[in-house]
Amino acid sequence: MAVKILWYLTTPDGPYPWEPEGRWKTDFEHLKQLAVASDRLGYYGSLLGSSPNESLAVSAALIDATRRLRFLVAQHPGELSPAVLAKWALTFDQFSNGRLLFNVVNGNDAGLATLGVHYPHDERYDFSLEYWRAFQNFYAGDTSGHDGQYVKLAPRSPAAASHPLGGWHPPKQKPGIPLWGAGTSGPGIAHSVQLLDVYLSFANTPPKLGEKFRKVAAEAAKIGRELTFGTRLQIIVRETEEEAWAHAEKLLQSTSLQTARTAIERQLPPGETLDSFRSDDPQIQRNVDAVRAGRLPKARDLEIYPNVWLGPSLFGFNILGPAAGTYLVGSAEQVAERIREYEAQGTSAFILSGFPLIDEAHRVADLLFPLLDLDHGFDVPRLRADTPAPQRANVVERA
Ligand SMILES: Cc1cc2nc3c(=O)[nH]c(=O)nc-3n(C[C@H](O)[C@H](O)[C@H](O)COP(=O)(O)O)c2cc1C
Repeated sequence: MAVKILWYLTTPDGPYPWEPEGRWKTDFEHLKQLAVASDRLGYYGSLLGSSPNESLAVSAALIDATRRLRFLVAQHPGELSPAVLAKWALTFDQFSNGRLLFNVVNGNDAGLATLGVHYPHDERYDFSLEYWRAFQNFYAGDTSGHDGQYVKLAPRSPAAASHPLGGWHPPKQKPGIPLWGAGTSGPGIAHSVQLLDVYLSFANTPPKLGEKFRKVAAEAAKIGRELTFGTRLQIIVRETEEEAWAHAEKLLQSTSLQTARTAIERQLPPGETLDSFRSDDPQIQRNVDAVRAGRLPKARDLEIYPNVWLGPSLFGFNILGPAAGTYLVGSAEQVAERIREYEAQGTSAFILSGFPLIDEAHRVADLLFPLLDLDHGFDVPRLRADTPAPQRANVVERA
C-alpha cells in the first residue's frame, strides 16, 4: 500500500495563528503562493475547509496557478441546487483537467440552518444522500431530472442539452467526482458507507483510529462496498527529534493559558466545568491540574503515544483527548515510521498542516516525502539535488 499526502489551503496563517499575535494578515496572493508551493512540491491535493472564503470561489481562482494539485473542496448539501453544483463541477473539471474532489460535510444544526438547510441531525443525512445522488447523476450527464423526497428538478430537454448554448460539458472523471467525507455518529456512518469513496476521521492513536476504520469498513462490507480511509493531522517534522520537540515547546510557550482554558471548556462533557472535571486517565488529569494551577503542561506531557501530540493548534488544543488538532511530532524517520503504522491500520490518505503553511509544506516535502511510498499518480519531485552541490573550495574563481 502507498499513501497520499495532502496539505491545507486556507487563509489563517502565521507562526501560531491560534493566537492573535501569531497570525499574519493574509490575502489572495498569499493563498496563491501556498497553492503554487503545494503544487510544485508534489502534494496530491489541498484541503479547502469551511472558512471565511467560499471554497468554490477559491479553488476556481487557483486552477490556472497550479498544474497537478487536486482541490478537496468542503461542500454542505443544500448550499446550492445539486444541478448547479454539477454544472459547476463539470466546468471546473473541464478547465482543471479533472482535479476536483469534494469533501462532503454535514456541519452542525445551527450552521446549516444559516445556509437555509433546516433538517435535524439524523434526517440531514437522508437529505444529504439524496442530494449527492442527484449531483452524481447530473455530473454523469443524466438530463432526466430528479423526483425524490427532498430534491425535485424538472428534466432538461434533449434539444436544449445539445444546443451550443444549452449543453453541459461531458464528465472528465469517471465514474464521477471522488467524494471524501466524515461522520462519526450512527447516521453519519450509515450515510458515509453508502456514499463516500474516502472516509475521513480526525486522528487518534494508530490503534484507535484503525479500530474506528475497521468498524466503518465492516458496515460498508454489509452493503458490498469498500472504502479507503484518510485522516487529518498537524505536523512538526525536523531533522532530529530534539529539534522537533523544541519547536513543539516553543509553540506551547507562545500559547496563552486562556486559550488552553477555553479549549478545555469546549471539550468538556455537558454539565462539567474545568474545576469539576475528573479524568480516568492520569496523564490527562495531570495536564488538566496544571492548567487549573495556572500553568501549561510541558510538551512531552502532551504526547499520548509515540510522536502523537495534543498540543495547541488552529483546530483546537485537545488536552482532554485527540480531536481536530492532533499532531505528529518527531524526526523525519520517526514521523515516517508513525505514518507507516497508521497505514498498517488502514489509513491511506493524510491531510497535513503545520504553520507557517508554506515553510512547513517545504519541510515535509524535503524531509518526509523521500521516506514514504507516495501514490500521487505522478513522479513526486525531490527537493534536494541527487548529487551534492559543488564544494565552494573547488570553485575556480575567474580573475
Ligand atoms: C478531515 C475532516 C475535515 C472536515 N472539514 C469540515 C469542514 O470543512 N466544514 C465542516 O463544517 N465540517 C467539517 N468536518 C466535520 C464533519 O463534516 C462532520 O460534521 C463531523 O465529522 C461530525 O459528524 P457526525 O455528527 O456524524 O458525528 C470535517 C471532518 C473531518 C474528519
